[in-house]
Amino acid sequence: MGFPNLNGETKLCGLFGFPVEHSLSPAMHNAAFQSSELNWAYLPFAVHPDHLAKAVQGIHPLNLAGVNITVPHKQRIIPLLDEIEPTAAKIGAVNTIVNCGGKLVGYNTDGAGFIRSLAEEADFRPQGKTVLMIGAGGAARAVAFTLALSGCKAIYFTNRTTETARELAKEIALNCGTNTEVLPWGLKMPKETVTGVDLVVQTTSLGMWPNWQAAPEFPFAAVHSGQLICDLIYTPRQTSFLQQAAVQGATVLNGMGMLLYQGVLAFELWTGQSAPIEIMKEALARQLV
Ligand code: ATR
Repeated sequence: MGFPNLNGETKLCGLFGFPVEHSLSPAMHNAAFQSSELNWAYLPFAVHPDHLAKAVQGIHPLNLAGVNITVPHKQRIIPLLDEIEPTAAKIGAVNTIVNCGGKLVGYNTDGAGFIRSLAEEADFRPQGKTVLMIGAGGAARAVAFTLALSGCKAIYFTNRTTETARELAKEIALNCGTNTEVLPWGLKMPKETVTGVDLVVQTTSLGMWPNWQAAPEFPFAAVHSGQLICDLIYTPRQTSFLQQAAVQGATVLNGMGMLLYQGVLAFELWTGQSAPIEIMKEALARQLV
C-alpha cells in the first residue's frame, strides 16, 4: 500500500516488536486511515529488546501519536510508561500506547478486542457466564482478566504446565473476585465440567501454521451445541481444535475477530474517531489469502 499524501503534517503511529515482518497491523491501520481520510500513517519498527527503552524515549520527540506493542515487549514496556490504564495494569501487559502531549499512556486492547469480537460475531456477553481457558500464557492472561472484569461467573484453567495455570487462577481470583479453578490437562479434565461451560477459549500455540494438524488433547465428546468454542489462532482459519468442536455442533470462532477489534480499539484511542471496521476486516482478509 502506498502513502500518496505523506507530508509534514502526517501523524505517525507505529508498531514496536521483534520481529515485526509478518504483522498484519500496518495494512489494517493504513487502510483505516486512508478510508477515514486521515493524514495518518502506521509503520512497523523492529525494536530489539536491548533498545526498547531508547525507542520509547523517542516516541514523544519523534511526534508519534500512538504505538502498538507486540512480542516480546508487552510486559517490559510497563515501567517505561507514564501511566497505565487500570485493566492493562491488572493484566500486566500493554499493547497500545497513546502519546497524550508527551505523557505516554499504556492500554491493553487485546482482551477488550476479544470480548468485542464475542459480542459482534457470536452475540455472546460474558456477564454471568462460565468459561474454560486452555493455556495460561500472555494471550490467556489478557483474555481471562478481561473476561473476569466483564463479570464472568467462573473461569476454569487448564495448562500443560499446571503451576502456571494455578498462578493465573489465583491472581484473577484475588484481583477480580471471580471464582477460579484449575483442571487437569488434556483428556484427564472432567467431562462434566467441559459440558457445563458456556465458552471455551483455546489460547495455546498448538495448531498454528505450519503445525496446523496439532491440537491440544481435549474431551471433544463433551462439547455440544449451545456452547461457543474459540481459538485465538487465525492461521489456519479453522484449526483442528475448532474443526473437532464444530463436529459436535458447537458455535466456533477463530482469532481474526480479536485481531480486528484490538486494532479497532487502538484506532479509536489514537484518533478519537469511530473505526471503519469493514475496511479493516477486508484489509486483514487480503493479507491472509
Ligand atoms: P502467548 O503470548 O501466545 O500466549 P506464551 O505466553 O508463550 O504465548 O504462551 C504459550 C501457551 O501455549 C502456554 O500456555 C503454553 O503452555 P506452557 O505454559 O506449558 O508452556 C502453551 N503451549 C505452547 N506449546 C505447547 C505444547 N506443545 N503443548 C501444550 N501447550 C503448549
